[in-house]
Amino acid sequence: MKVLNVYASLNGQTEKIALAVTQAAKDAGCTVTTLNIQKDKTHPDPLEYDLVFMGSGVYSWLPGKAMIKWMDEQMEAAKKANRILPNSPRIPGKFAALYCTYAGPHTGEAEAIPAVKYMGQLYDHLGMTIAAEWCIPGAFVPSKMQFMNTQGRMGNIEGRPNEQDIASVQGKVIALIESLRPVVASIAA
Ligand SMILES: Cc1cc2nc3c(=O)[nH]c(=O)nc-3n(C[C@H](O)[C@H](O)[C@H](O)COP(=O)(O)O)c2cc1C
Repeated sequence: MKVLNVYASLNGQTEKIALAVTQAAKDAGCTVTTLNIQKDKTHPDPLEYDLVFMGSGVYSWLPGKAMIKWMDEQMEAAKKANRILPNSPRIPGKFAALYCTYAGPHTGEAEAIPAVKYMGQLYDHLGMTIAAEWCIPGAFVPSKMQFMNTQGRMGNIEGRPNEQDIASVQGKVIALIESLRPVVASIAA
């Protein structure tokens, strides 16, 4: 299975999850391209992959600015290629899975859900099926913001994402790939 894993990570928290996603997908036998959009400005074609993972930290209940800009550019390219059609017809065997890390200091997971929904819309518009959305606690890194790691709606999130979060994501990645394998194989046949 051909996998693309795109991510943006301001303080390295989402990157911990992104690298775990890549490793798990490789362990499941996939060919994986990993793209940190802050370091690599290329714009791959999502439809060249069977499964696209995409992740970001959460900033004001959306992905960070770098991710939003990258998505705007992807959308522009898709429009130019006449791929954004009324009713967004489904493309068989094309899937996307979105993940974010978030601190939820004010309203908890409600701050993360719009971010994964927003990211998913790029792929849904292209006709890909949203196969998973994962929101993983990620502590504030800047020292002046760390009080929110203990005083926010999420309770104590110091040290998150931790080893357990990473192991949990890896288990979900492998399970997702196994669930999609028969569909992708039947289309390739
Ligand atoms: C300046 C700043 C603003 C943030 N705003 C939010 C927010 O609005 N909602 C939220 O849930 N988390 C917020 N966070 C927490 C981050 O989403 C969280 O720490 C995440 O794991 C960071 O991921 P990254 O380092 O990969 O970008 C903010 C963090 C910073 C540094």
